[in-house]
Amino acid sequence: MKKKLLLLPGDGIGPEVIAEARRIAELLVADIEIETGLVGGASFDAHGAPLTDETLARALKSEAVLLGAVGGPKWTGTARDLRPEAGLLALRKGLDVFANLRPAFCFPALVDASSLKREKVEGLDLMIVRELTGGVYFGTPRGIDEVGGLRRGYDTAIYTHPEIERVARVAFDIARGRSGRVLSVEKSNVMESGLFWRQEVTLAHAEFGGGVALAHMYADACAMELVRAPKQFDVILADNLFGDLLSDEAAMLTGSIGMLPSASLGAPGTPGLYEPVHGSAPDIAGQGIANPCAAILSLEMALRWSLGKEKAADALLAAVGKALDRGARTRDLGGELTTRQMADAVIAAL
Ligand code: NAD
Ligand code: IPM
Ligand code: MN
Repeated sequence: MKKKLLLLPGDGIGPEVIAEARRIAELLVADIEIETGLVGGASFDAHGAPLTDETLARALKSEAVLLGAVGGPKWTGTARDLRPEAGLLALRKGLDVFANLRPAFCFPALVDASSLKREKVEGLDLMIVRELTGGVYFGTPRGIDEVGGLRRGYDTAIYTHPEIERVARVAFDIARGRSGRVLSVEKSNVMESGLFWRQEVTLAHAEFGGGVALAHMYADACAMELVRAPKQFDVILADNLFGDLLSDEAAMLTGSIGMLPSASLGAPGTPGLYEPVHGSAPDIAGQGIANPCAAILSLEMALRWSLGKEKAADALLAAVGKALDRGARTRDLGGELTTRQMADAVIAAL
């Protein structure tokens, strides 16, 4: 049976970049069934919910889901649980994709596109493993209310033993295929959930971390080190919130957030969710100038990790590098190409 790829373009530049990824997928692999669906604001507008049961059921029946981006000013006033972002969180939770892999590598052609000096980023290749279905994003109680005349807002940062163990194991497995080093970050100096994170990662390392060197760092120090000397890092393991922040920071080391893909994985044999690290970019949506590379490279990760198309993935990764070598640049990279032209350059290189 053909493997299924479900495209969920979403909002803003999501549909623009996913259209290019689709074009490339159709060119590159004939024996994959491609479907599309709605998520985020697009789904809310059509069905009154940012993720419908039907779309989640279709996602669960696919091998891979490729999502563009969700959100935008149009839905700012919408109730929180109906906001586009809630649809994305429900999709991650519904697929139980707890390990979010966010690679940050600097293509040789882009060493001068970073805001850091060339020698800081040349050869940079790091992998952030972000816990994706727990922590302060999902903890309860949470809310905005009033107690004794005092208005307040609060969230709960909470992790359980299995949640930390399973994502730490993914980080160790990935490190074994790389330089064998994992840096775990938290704020165990001020947070109980941070102290628990450090303890649990240490225990998981003793049991499952054979061949891997584990180190720890406070997340704020890591944020600083990432711009001081990013090449010291290989695999960074972080909770949901710190992983979110550090991966946006890492994105800029590589030149543009428009370059960075991600893969979110659950238990073996379950569907993977693939999405650019960037958002719906309302400031440039509809202009056809978004960089499609993050979406194209997310397709590359889907081909590699969920669709059993490693050769096609290798070819696609090489083609993106070649297009950049030949000077193809969208505006975020200091060039003039449109979204479509950038994808054309990748296709030409293919
Ligand atoms: P953003 O990533 O959408 O945009 C940040 C900046 O980067 C903007 O200047 C934008 O123009 C630029 N940018 C982003 N992607 C680009 C691309 N492919 N090519 C060129 N430039 C690009 O982040 P934001 O502005 O903080 O968020 C906008 C909306 O997106 C919000 O509603 C937010 O919640 C949502 N969001 C969604 C996701 C997701 O769907 N995975 C991720 C992040 C933010
Ligand atoms: C991301 C985004 C999301 C997150 C939002 C849109 C829910 O910032 O994918 O990095 O915070 O996880
Ligand atoms: Mn983010």
